Amino acid sequence: MSIFIDSSNIDEIARYHRMGVIRGVTTNPTIMMKDGVRGFHEIQKRSLEIAKLVAPYPVSVEVMTNDFDEMRHQAIEFSKWAENINIKVTIHGPNGELENVALVHELETKHNIRVNVTAMMSAQQCYLAAMAGATYVSLFGGRVNNMGYNAVHEIRRLRRVLDVNQLKSKIIVGSTREVLNVIEWIDAGAHIVTVTPNLIEGMLVHPYSKETISMFLKDAKKILT
Ligand code: E4P
Repeated sequence: MSIFIDSSNIDEIARYHRMGVIRGVTTNPTIMMKDGVRGFHEIQKRSLEIAKLVAPYPVSVEVMTNDFDEMRHQAIEFSKWAENINIKVTIHGPNGELENVALVHELETKHNIRVNVTAMMSAQQCYLAAMAGATYVSLFGGRVNNMGYNAVHEIRRLRRVLDVNQLKSKIIVGSTREVLNVIEWIDAGAHIVTVTPNLIEGMLVHPYSKETISMFLKDAKKILT
């Protein structure tokens, strides 16, 4: 069980990597856009920078298209950038196009590329992605909760199904919205929860710890004067 950071911001990744509390990085086009990445050259530059910073921990980089041949081409190209880069492919296309799973299977079995199947909202989607051979299956826990379902139930059920069927896929739960999500989802059976930088800080800093530490420092000063 471990924590990945859901970010492409170098300073944030470096901060938590230096603390030794993260074991990988996940990105997607929306995260990269928010972090100011523009164009293929910058995608490559940023991905490489992250991969180098956290190596040998894995870094997920998502394909930027849903055209089958172009997805395959990008997946193969991106995976060559660094040993620890794995490729994110969405479970299907924006209109439910089904070919993505065939690509996942091909990348894992013929090209020896580790795939993170992403944008999944249910245990059954993740189960099929795992059957197709995905190294990681990403369930978007926060979005599941926002739809009115409890992600914890999906995670528990998925973990049981993967274990019983001896499927090697690791469950990544992403789309974190609250500090509580992290411990709750790990406790439910997620192998990994990918957490936004602000929530990692939220996990660490506690108001009552602040008050206690202030007391220690105030009394330390008294002792020393
Ligand atoms: C996971 O790998 C994704 O990058 C991420 O957690 C998506 O979350 P969102 O719901 O905030 O878009």
